Amino acid sequence: MGRKKIALIGAGNIGGTLAHLALIRGLGDVVLFDVVEGMPQGKALDLMEGGPIEPFDASVTGTNSYEDIAGADVCIVTAGLARKPGMSRDDLLATNAKIMTQVSEGIRTHAPDSMVIIISNPLDAMVTLAKRVTGFPKNRVVGMAGVLDSARYRSFLALELNVSVESVQAMVLGGHGDDMVPVRSGCTVAGAPITDFIAEPRLAEIEARVRGAGGEVVALLKTGSAYYSPATAAIRMAESYLHDKKEILPAAAYLEGEYGFSGFYLGVPVQIGAGGVEKVIELKLTETESEALQVSASHVQELVEALDSVIEG
Ligand code: APR
Repeated sequence: MGRKKIALIGAGNIGGTLAHLALIRGLGDVVLFDVVEGMPQGKALDLMEGGPIEPFDASVTGTNSYEDIAGADVCIVTAGLARKPGMSRDDLLATNAKIMTQVSEGIRTHAPDSMVIIISNPLDAMVTLAKRVTGFPKNRVVGMAGVLDSARYRSFLALELNVSVESVQAMVLGGHGDDMVPVRSGCTVAGAPITDFIAEPRLAEIEARVRGAGGEVVALLKTGSAYYSPATAAIRMAESYLHDKKEILPAAAYLEGEYGFSGFYLGVPVQIGAGGVEKVIELKLTETESEALQVSASHVQELVEALDSVIEG
């Protein structure tokens, strides 16, 4: 039995971090693809030279040719522009749609049996486009957003309460935009409702910080967007697929009637195992949460419609 093969499409900040994490967590051989010549090769060499120290034996190579992703079990896509201060994720739509179309064609031709995890923004529109262009079934194309947004929620709550992040459970659903939906009704500390620990006004402030958390990092970095935590989140999803863990994680999944939506991707809890996105879990939401999900979904639908005009135009 050979090793699994992980293709990383986009070898920038997130791509490089994904490669490092995949190697140290022993997920398999890594191929870093980018359009920039030399950069993926340079990062691969640098990573390879750390192998004896970690140690890991898996191979890591950099390439500018899609042929080298052949046989990949998983493709994780970060190709595209990242946000700069003052930009919303939606501002990336036109540029990243062109890039995502090229990338999806490359994956369709050279890694037709792979599980595809999209990270590029605006996430919900990009993953919808990737499914359309690859023509892959819905279980093999998924978007990474909810694992990250939920981790941000958990981090801020754990900081507030001065408890371990492991004692806090929380989920953020909806689109990966400023109207994402932190699900307060499902948020617990050691199994007890979060509202037993934090009063409403403060909780609302924390949730507002969650919605703007990506922007908070962009404003500080000035030259790009978050990359350590997005990479960690996508690796968690890839691991659940490669190890058939069947973990329930929030992720952008293609909906066909679940939560009342159809025909586009939205952040919902899904089970990820050897079958890819094996099922969508329908949680009971409060009325306020359902309404917020509706607002977020309408925004995603608008973006998907804008995508159509960008592609046709
Ligand atoms: N094919 C492959 N790679 C491409 C293409 C393309 N057509 N066009 C650009 N790239 C590469 C760039 O050369 C760059 O190395 O995508 C990489 C993106 O890396 P960064 O600019 O460092 O961005 P990163 O922080 O990794 O974020 C990537 O994920 O979270 C989202 O909003 C973020 O859309 C952005 C993406």
